[in-house]
Amino acid sequence: MTGASSSSSASAASAAPDFGFDSLSLDWLRAKPGAKWHRHGVPWNAWVADMDFPPPPCVDQAIRAVLDSGDIGYPDWRHVTGGSPAATAFAERCAARYGWTFDPEHLRELNDVLQGIQIVLHLCTEPGDGVVVHTPAYPPFLHSVEDNGRRVVRVPASRSADSPSGWTFDHEALDARLAAGEQAKVLLLCHPHNPTGHVFSEDELRSLAAIAERHDLLVISDEIHADLTYAPLTHRPMALFAPERTVTIHAASKAFNLAGLRYAIMHVAPAWVRERFGTVPDHMFGATNLMGSAAAEAVWRHGDEWLDAVVAHLDGQRRFLGDLLAMYLPDVVYTPPQGTYLAWLDFRTMDLGDDPSAAFVGNGVRLSEGPNFGPEGHGFARLNFATSTEVLRGTVRAMTGELGDP
Ligand SMILES: Cc1ncc(COP(=O)(O)O)c(C=O)c1O
Repeated sequence: MTGASSSSSASAASAAPDFGFDSLSLDWLRAKPGAKWHRHGVPWNAWVADMDFPPPPCVDQAIRAVLDSGDIGYPDWRHVTGGSPAATAFAERCAARYGWTFDPEHLRELNDVLQGIQIVLHLCTEPGDGVVVHTPAYPPFLHSVEDNGRRVVRVPASRSADSPSGWTFDHEALDARLAAGEQAKVLLLCHPHNPTGHVFSEDELRSLAAIAERHDLLVISDEIHADLTYAPLTHRPMALFAPERTVTIHAASKAFNLAGLRYAIMHVAPAWVRERFGTVPDHMFGATNLMGSAAAEAVWRHGDEWLDAVVAHLDGQRRFLGDLLAMYLPDVVYTPPQGTYLAWLDFRTMDLGDDPSAAFVGNGVRLSEGPNFGPEGHGFARLNFATSTEVLRGTVRAMTGELGDP
């Protein structure tokens, strides 16, 4: 029993399938053993980037099929494509969905996206090298750079009423700084951007590609949120704009809610990076999980109906959150994200200090702490709206203290 009716059988032949995104039971959510609902012991959890929905039905089927085969021993494929059905599905999907074609031999499977970032930074940069990051930044980006003895070269977000995401990044200033001698070896792109939800436009991607070319930057593009881009925008892989110098890292885990299954994939365009990989033992990359691989293949081949439905639901949620904030917390500044299910909330006019999320813990609500996203996150908190409308309403009302003792 999931707490959500996840049947895709519609009563009328023409009706859209109902995957139960709006039928989550609070009892079911609060009994979940995973980090999101369990770790902090509070009744309203809108922090870590997991969705509250059960996974797509094709994931159940794929995992059951592995178990039914009676064989969960070593699979008969290698880490480099040519072998893994998930990698083949990924390559075919990139061609069909993004018009991005490549040699599948340049794919490398991983346990997770952050592992890929670590490996590339470790093998392709030296201590002290600069890594360009759009800030505020997903906290593990900052740790991946700083805890490895590399330097974050910040490109800070500025509020802009003219930008549909509410945010702009000054790439001309970045170009000028690099031209003036600020050292950097890598552009670590988060596309779409966590936490602002900014989707880099084709013009921005082109200008970043030109900057990478001028200053000889290796580009690592984390596109884990790619399939959570809201219409009318569509995802454009960075590799289309800087095809020779981009390492793209992807996973089905955000868009299809599979984070615990640990499967990601990396496309490595630059030959010199692939050569560096050859300088360390293959076992340093580990090997992927059979269930994670089966699930990724399943959603990439059969998950689009579920994905369309979840993106439509999230599109409604990002707007509904605006209505709720206007009603309950009108001083919060919020622009609906262009991608991701994460809302970057600006509390700076409310006098809640550096970490506004702390003010809501006493009301039973857990958000992600803004300062963890770097100095640009002071006065902010991140709210995850990938839940039902009723849970989102309850979360925002609880933030105000209106629900009393939950
Ligand atoms: C931008 C970004 N990259 C990577 C991750 C983590 O991915 P993984 O669990 O595959 O390392 C997240 C998770 O929220 C994320 O938002």
